Amino acid sequence: MTDRYAVIGNPVAHSKSPWIHAEFARATGEDIEYGRIEAPRDGFAGAVDAFRRGGGKGLNVTLPFKEAAFRYCGGRVTQRAAAGQAANTLDFRTEVQGDNTDGVGLVRDISENLGWVLQGKSLLIMGAGGAAQAVVGALLDAGAGSLVIANRTVAKAQALAARFPGVLGCGYDALEGRVFDVAINATSAGLSGEAPALPEGILGKRTLAYDMVYGRETPFLAAARSAGARTCDGLGMLVEQAAESFFVWRGVRPETRLLLRKLRGG
Ligand code: ATR
Repeated sequence: MTDRYAVIGNPVAHSKSPWIHAEFARATGEDIEYGRIEAPRDGFAGAVDAFRRGGGKGLNVTLPFKEAAFRYCGGRVTQRAAAGQAANTLDFRTEVQGDNTDGVGLVRDISENLGWVLQGKSLLIMGAGGAAQAVVGALLDAGAGSLVIANRTVAKAQALAARFPGVLGCGYDALEGRVFDVAINATSAGLSGEAPALPEGILGKRTLAYDMVYGRETPFLAAARSAGARTCDGLGMLVEQAAESFFVWRGVRPETRLLLRKLRGG
């Protein structure tokens, strides 16, 4: 019997996950089917229960349900899901297990696909919401030399930073005079055509400016490019987090480079 998986979110119509997982399945010869489920905003648990009752083997979870997915697991979560208090991968083979592959997906895209060294480097994360929360642990595990979390609402940056030893949380003004090796935009500002209010000079020629949003040139990436920084959107992170989820479910790690090239239209 073909094992069934899906991505659950709201909205979910434009998710690339079904296409990506179908490509992974074809490339690895795994017999899976992967669909999409648009759950009502107040009906996440019911939709997951129904999918499980129907024999579903696993789910990817996207906005706005990653925190709800973490709660759904009732403590049966991996350490990397616990670190961000959010789950993007649910595995139903033995009851339920929540995992989060976003952080490792980001780290792999930066270090393997882009060939950018993270070890010992100065890192800036902009934003302190779910997207930021999910990746801090993995960036520290990758050997970041220093990590600053900056956010419009300063208290949120400070609260997130306080959960990780040695991480500083602050507002954008407090970054004045610093330059970072890697600056990661984990805010949703780009979705409304805005950019975090960074002081001048934060992004330089030695900076990798990474936006977790994909498929568009955000004002943050445009500003970074004109400052001479190397820029990248979040498409590679999307593919890498999917590959890690596939590995969690199937024990087989799909190749990602060709697929990423295909998605970029190359
Ligand atoms: P997500 O799960 O995508 O992180 P979220 O939890 O709603 O979504 O968080 C959105 C993040 O983007 C927050 O850090 C938010 O800043 P505030 O905490 O100050 O609200 C940030 N954000 C959204 N729009 C922004 C903008 N125009 N400028 C700067 N930061 C913005």
